[in-house]
Amino acid sequence: MRKASLFFAGVICVLLYTACGNKDSIPETVTFTEHVAPILYNNCTICHRPGGNAHFSLVTYEDAKKSAGACAYVVKEKIMPPWPADPNYTEFVGQRILSEHDKKILEKWSAEGAPQGPADKMPALPNYPVGSTIGTPDMRIPVQPYFLKSNSYDKFLLVKVPYELPADTFAAIIEFVPGTKNVVHHVNGDMVKYDAGKKADVFAGERVLNMAEDTATLLQAYQKLGLPNDDGSYPVLQKSVVNFLPGATGQRYPDGVGGYFLPRKGAFLLNDLHYGFTKQEDIMDSSYINIFFAKIPSKRPAKEFQIGTLSSFGNAPVLPDLIIQPNTVKQVYSRYVVPDDISILTVNPHMHLLGKSFKAYAVKPEGDTIRLISIPRWDFNWQYFYTFKKMVKIPKGSAIIAEGVYDNTKQNLNNPFTPPQLVRDRDGSMKATDEMFQFIVTYLPYQQGDENISLDIQKP
Ligand code: HEC
Repeated sequence: MRKASLFFAGVICVLLYTACGNKDSIPETVTFTEHVAPILYNNCTICHRPGGNAHFSLVTYEDAKKSAGACAYVVKEKIMPPWPADPNYTEFVGQRILSEHDKKILEKWSAEGAPQGPADKMPALPNYPVGSTIGTPDMRIPVQPYFLKSNSYDKFLLVKVPYELPADTFAAIIEFVPGTKNVVHHVNGDMVKYDAGKKADVFAGERVLNMAEDTATLLQAYQKLGLPNDDGSYPVLQKSVVNFLPGATGQRYPDGVGGYFLPRKGAFLLNDLHYGFTKQEDIMDSSYINIFFAKIPSKRPAKEFQIGTLSSFGNAPVLPDLIIQPNTVKQVYSRYVVPDDISILTVNPHMHLLGKSFKAYAVKPEGDTIRLISIPRWDFNWQYFYTFKKMVKIPKGSAIIAEGVYDNTKQNLNNPFTPPQLVRDRDGSMKATDEMFQFIVTYLPYQQGDENISLDIQKP
């Protein structure tokens, strides 16, 4: 079934390609300044520039020329720009897709020796915000810098990031910005909210605990971090207010939707600040959290649920169990029936290195299907929170179904083990060598007209 639809998508692409080739003319001579730089600046240099998250730049003619052949190849193979979701299944805000015309330009330019072109045709590089994927934050809260020795493997930290404001306020966006972009793997962060008068000093206590070494239980960890109120009771913990995964950008919703109440005194609690392999150099990582205040307080804060591994309901587990025998390809699913009408804002599929493909959709009580997302070729490096262009209404009683395929053979070049070994999920272990199958949904309780509300807002 999946093979058939992939084949079909392929045929459509070829047809479009031919049509475009005839109509949308490719210039006689393709040059960098006239034709290539505009494509790179619109689609690539957000990451491929000094200080971006890719390890080489495509800004200058000299830089781009060196990579001309590689660029033509990766765009043809749809490896770059990185966008694993199939745009023929569903479309999302800010999707990174290169047109067939632009691919052809890059290919011709490379094939003809990558000529430079007239200097006066060179476009200006877009203005990229510094230190944020969104813009200039109203407040920046540093995460305690952390030292990583060279050649160190996975580290999972529990980190407190306290703050104090002049008054209670409302945030539209909370954005985690990794200090060392290629070493910070992911973050899942909650917010600790102190009621007025309950906590004198939010800065007291330790800031960073290494979960493997420092602590026996989570409660002991919370004590060490000084999280309890002064009277020993516990403050409210709001889950998942600040997340980071490879490729993710801070998410903005229309005014009055989403957002977070920030009490005057509080702390972010990064449950898993996961540092990956550090290669040859010692690193002092200085990550931080950006806060963008809301213009108006939100009346509709976003809610979230997860199905699959660590299902937030407990009743939407992975089926069958996520135990993947060596040298096998395994399909699993998770299914959850929504008890009320909801409006979906974003979805985030999550698997690790054995992931091969992922698909999620909803089936309405009367049998119609609502498409959510299809990732025909899973890529561990790019796990976006995909935001729909308009809210997606899922009626009460619909089943949300997520399906994943895992490839634990040696043909899977990302297989962490040679020869392949038994791999499974382990109490939600986020280690890249354990597996997970998770589908995270951000939503609102449905209101009349939600399906017409555009979420396509790029800037605060
Ligand atoms: C969202 C960020 C992002 C965008 C947008 C992006 N890239 Fe990349 N690109 C990366 C990262 C990160 C890597 C490094 C991947 C790695 O090290 O495995 C990379 C790798 C590459 C490579 C090297 C591939 C390899 O195997 O080493 C080429 C060539 C490339 N990109 C070209 C492009 C082109 C051309 C575009 C635009 C059409 C583009 N990229 C858009 C982030 C991006």
